Amino acid sequence: MCGIVGITGDSQVAASLLEGLRRLEYRGYDSAGIAVQQPEGIACVKRQGKIQELADAVDPDELTGICGIAHTRWATHGEPSQVNAHPHQDGRIALVHNGIIENYQALKQKLEEKGHEFASETDTEVLVHLINDQYEGKLEDAVRRSLKLVEGTYGIAVMHADEPGKIVGARRGSPLVVGVGDGFNVLASDVAAILGHTKQVIYLDDWDMAVLTPDGVQTFDIDNQSVDKEIEEITWGLEQIQKGGFAHYMLKEIFEQPETIRDAFRGRILPASGDVKLGGLQLTDWELRNIRRIIILACGTSYHAGLVGEYLIEEYARIPVEVEYASEFRYRSPIIEPGTLCIVISQSGETIDTLEAMREAKRRGAKVIGITNVVGSTIARETECGVYIHAGPEIGVASTKAFTSQVTILILITLLLGRRNHINAEYGMEIIEELQKVPDKIRQVLDQSEAIKDIARVYANHSNCLYLGRGVNYPIALEGALKLKEISYIHAEGYPAAEMKHGPIALIDPNMPVVVIGTRDASYEKIRGNVQEVRARRGKIISVVSEGDTEIASLSDHVLTIPRCRGMVTPLLSVVPLQLLAYHIAVLRGEDVDQPRNLAKAVTVE
Ligand code: AGP
Repeated sequence: MCGIVGITGDSQVAASLLEGLRRLEYRGYDSAGIAVQQPEGIACVKRQGKIQELADAVDPDELTGICGIAHTRWATHGEPSQVNAHPHQDGRIALVHNGIIENYQALKQKLEEKGHEFASETDTEVLVHLINDQYEGKLEDAVRRSLKLVEGTYGIAVMHADEPGKIVGARRGSPLVVGVGDGFNVLASDVAAILGHTKQVIYLDDWDMAVLTPDGVQTFDIDNQSVDKEIEEITWGLEQIQKGGFAHYMLKEIFEQPETIRDAFRGRILPASGDVKLGGLQLTDWELRNIRRIIILACGTSYHAGLVGEYLIEEYARIPVEVEYASEFRYRSPIIEPGTLCIVISQSGETIDTLEAMREAKRRGAKVIGITNVVGSTIARETECGVYIHAGPEIGVASTKAFTSQVTILILITLLLGRRNHINAEYGMEIIEELQKVPDKIRQVLDQSEAIKDIARVYANHSNCLYLGRGVNYPIALEGALKLKEISYIHAEGYPAAEMKHGPIALIDPNMPVVVIGTRDASYEKIRGNVQEVRARRGKIISVVSEGDTEIASLSDHVLTIPRCRGMVTPLLSVVPLQLLAYHIAVLRGEDVDQPRNLAKAVTVE
C-alpha cells in the first residue's frame, strides 16, 4: 500500500528519496511524488504510474535540497491521478500520508468556510490544510493540534519551508520507522527504504510523534510528553531485498524455500526427545495442556496457512480449531471462553484487518500469540508472545516463502501441543526427522520448474481454472488458485474435491483445466474418483501426485510429482509446484509478477 520516505541531512536528497521509493515499490501503488525544501519554498513533482515516470520528470538540477519527503500512493479516496498523488501542499507546508482520515468531510467543510480551497479528491489534502490552519510558527505544535481533531488512521511526514531541515512524523495505525544516521536521519513506512542508509532504527508506536533534523531525533507523544524509544538494529541486509540473479522476486522467493523452511525450524526442534522449543511463546506446560480451543485469525495466504494448521492441530494434537477471516471475526461478536488461544498469522504484521481482530480478541480476554515475519511490525509488538517465521524480506506481492514458513511454524506448534497431549516421543522424533528432510525434497520439486513452464505454455491463454484437493491439501488448492488469480488475472477457484459434484462440475468441459492435488494419503482413493469424474467430462487434468504414482497419473493430461512424505509435511511440498505454475503462466502472459495490478503487499486499510 502507500509508502513514505523522508530524509534530512547535509547532502542532496532527491536521488535518495527516489531510491527509497523504489524500495517501497513492492508494496503496491499507482502514483508517486516527491517534495524538497528550497529557500524560496517547497518544490514538488508528482506523477501517476510507475516511479520511473516520476524519476523521468525530476530534473536533478532543479529539484535540489537537503531535506525532503516522498510517497507512493495506493488509491483509496479519489482515483489514481497526478493531482491526487502525494505530497499535498498548502501554503508553505507539504505532507505525505498513509491511512484514512475518516472525518475528512466534516473537517473539509469547516476549512472551506474559512476560505481554504482544495485541489484533489483525497482525504489527505484536508490534513495539510488543517495543519496550515493551526500553524503558529512551530510545525510539530501545529501537527499535534491538528491530529487531535482527526479521526482515522495515519502515518505522516510533514515539512514547512520556514523550518529548514525539519521533518515531523506521526503515527496512528500506519507504521512509521525512524532510521538513525550520522549527520542525517530518515523517516519511512518500511525499513526497506531505510536499509541503504542505516541499520539503526526506532519503531514508532501509535500516538507517537517524531521530529527529525540532520543532527537528531526527538520523540514525543501526542500530548507533547517526551517518549524514550529504544534504538534497534535491523538484522537483514540490502542483498536480501535484491533479486540475486532471478528474473523476479517471486521466483527468487520460491527458490529460497529450502533455506527459509530450515530457518523456520532451526534451533526450535529437539530431535533427541521428539519435541519442540518455541522460546517466544512464553506458555508453560500447564498452560499448553489446558488449551481447550484455538482460533486462528488471518487474511489471504496467511489464512490458508491457518487452514492447514486447523487440519494438523485437530488431527495430531486433538484440540478443536476454528480459522476465521480476520475481517469477519471482529464484527461478529466472537465468543472467547477460558482456555481459548488465538493464533494471529500475518507475514507483514501490519494487515489492519488482522491487527484489529487481534485487538478484539485481546479485549475479550483471549491469550493471543502472533506468527509474523516482519520484525518490529505492529502485530509482533502488540502480541504478548509469538514466533517469528524468519523468512527474510518477502518482496513479491504474491506470498510464497512466507506461506511455507508459516506452515512450518504451525507444524512445530502442532508437535508442541501434541507432545503435551497425545503424541509420544517416538512419533515426535519421526515427525522431526521428516521435517528435516523437507528442504532437500523441495529442491527436487524446484528442479521441475522447466517442466512446469512447459505445462504453463499449454494453459497460459485459458480464462478459468479449478483447483481441487482434499483434507490438508484443500487449503493448498485454495492457495494455488489464489496465486494464479493474483498474478495472472485468470479466474481460478479452489474447492474441496468432493464439493465439485455440488455445483462446479457444471463448468467442466474440454476448455477447463483442473489442477488436482492427489498425493498418497488417506483420501487418495476418493480423490482418484473425483479425477475420474473430471475426465468423464473431458476436463483437462493437471495432477500433483506422490513420486511413483501411476493411478491418478494415468488419468491426467499433465503430471507433477512431489517426493513421498508423511501427511503432516505434505502441504510444504504440494504447494511448490502450484506456486511455479502460477508464476510461469503469469510470465508467459506478460504480467507484472512482482507488482500485480490493484494489489498491495501490506493491506493497511480496512
Ligand atoms: C498473498 O499472496 C496476498 N498478496 C495476500 O493475500 C496476503 O497474504 C494477505 O493480504 C495477508 O497479508 P499478511 O500475511 O501480511 O497479513
